[in-house]
Amino acid sequence: MGVYVENMWLLAVAIVGAVVAFGLWYSLKKGAPWWPTPARRTRALLRAADVKPGELVVDAGCGDGRVLLVAAREFSARGLGIEIHPVLVWIARLRLFAARLSAQVTIQRADLFSVDLRSADVLFLFLLQETNVALQEKLRRELRPGTRVVSYAFTLPQWQEQPSTDPYHHVYVVGDTASSPSTAAMV
Ligand SMILES: C[S@@+](CC[C@H](N)C(=O)[O-])C[C@H]1O[C@@H](n2cnc3c(N)ncnc32)[C@H](O)[C@@H]1O
Repeated sequence: MGVYVENMWLLAVAIVGAVVAFGLWYSLKKGAPWWPTPARRTRALLRAADVKPGELVVDAGCGDGRVLLVAAREFSARGLGIEIHPVLVWIARLRLFAARLSAQVTIQRADLFSVDLRSADVLFLFLLQETNVALQEKLRRELRPGTRVVSYAFTLPQWQEQPSTDPYHHVYVVGDTASSPSTAAMV
């Protein structure tokens, strides 16, 4: 009986491990594995983006929703989280429901490459360098002038970055159409 229980435990641990490993691999394959932005960095990046009450913050690859929780709670922003991993989608929704922020923040299960981003006032990114590179052209096409893009850790190499004192904080402002059609933020 003891050996049977022990084997069942091992089997349960192996199944959970396999599900977590598959999830990480799936997210990585789609653009970036799940790894949360530290709260201190989230606040600094949202401050750098000058998020104002009522503005729409879009977190492309929102993980468990923690960035949007801070944006809604501390900056009174609205939020849209786009997340490919179904388990993370439900964790994010539950966290926001528990915080009574479901009316302010929506979590959408989708591939961020297929979602129209033009409604964003602020776009938050924490992906990978190659994913940011692949995203640049879509952002150039869709984001409105004045939209702020903040990227933790990775750059948008073709874009002109705002001065920053932290090498992990990358801040961009989409250019004004008056100066150059939607590409003024690009080098
Ligand atoms: C490094 S985590 C960042 C999570 C969250 N933004 C944060 O800062 O705490 C990247 C997230 O992007 C998600 N992701 C990766 N590729 C994606 C894609 N193509 N579409 C939507 N979400 C994606 C992953 O599942 C993961 O949760």
